[in-house]
Amino acid sequence: MNVIVCNNAEAVADKAYEIVADIITAKPDAVLGLATGSTPVGLYRRLIEGYRQGKLSFRKIRSLNLDEYVGLPETHDQSYRYFMNDNLFDHIDIDKAETHVPCGTADDLQKAADEYTRLAASMPRDVQILGIGSNGHIAFNEPGTPFDSETHIVTLKESTRRDNARFFASIDEVPTHAVTMGIKTILNAKKIILVATGTNKADAVYNMINGPISEDCPASALRNHPDVDVIVDRDAAAKL
Ligand code: GLP
Repeated sequence: MNVIVCNNAEAVADKAYEIVADIITAKPDAVLGLATGSTPVGLYRRLIEGYRQGKLSFRKIRSLNLDEYVGLPETHDQSYRYFMNDNLFDHIDIDKAETHVPCGTADDLQKAADEYTRLAASMPRDVQILGIGSNGHIAFNEPGTPFDSETHIVTLKESTRRDNARFFASIDEVPTHAVTMGIKTILNAKKIILVATGTNKADAVYNMINGPISEDCPASALRNHPDVDVIVDRDAAAKL
């Protein structure tokens, strides 16, 4: 793992932007693996800015997102499809038909999940953006998820629902289930960039880098990948 410690969250976003912009410039039809959460928003703002300044085009870019809440329609302002449209896709020249987010409202969720696994296999990602949960989860792969998992339905941990309750009117409105790309699928990306900021990520970042490679810390699976940049601010790096 290539660990890059930056002074603050803005510098983390600057560094992540630099790497992603280089990939898009070198390969205008790159496949991007994208993540939700508040941490990648700074990167997305910079990508929008790069597009507005004419430095980047997303016309041939395709994307695959990591996860989605079960039960939230695309129009719900906390669905991850809505998040991606609002924070990135609506502001760049990407073809929305080429942007993919797992479906959390299908009648047969596991069937839709299996289709997503096949889709991911047909679209090898040049780079995968990741955040990290305070309990070490990546996407919605909670502690205990087997490393060979593909897209599947998960029951969210109480701690994850609490962490994400800040985006909802109350914790009761946070969905109890989600559909997530599995750890094996995530690791299939050619390159991975994980961003983390803030003291509430310090334990997870420590365990990812220095703890045992174990299902107790899903992010530790990234140590089995040959090309991972971990970009963190000083707060998230506090325990390293
Ligand atoms: C959610 C997402 C993860 C994300 C995590 C951290 O649980 N499913 O993909 O990494 O939140 O989010 P944040 O960046 O807001 O701390």
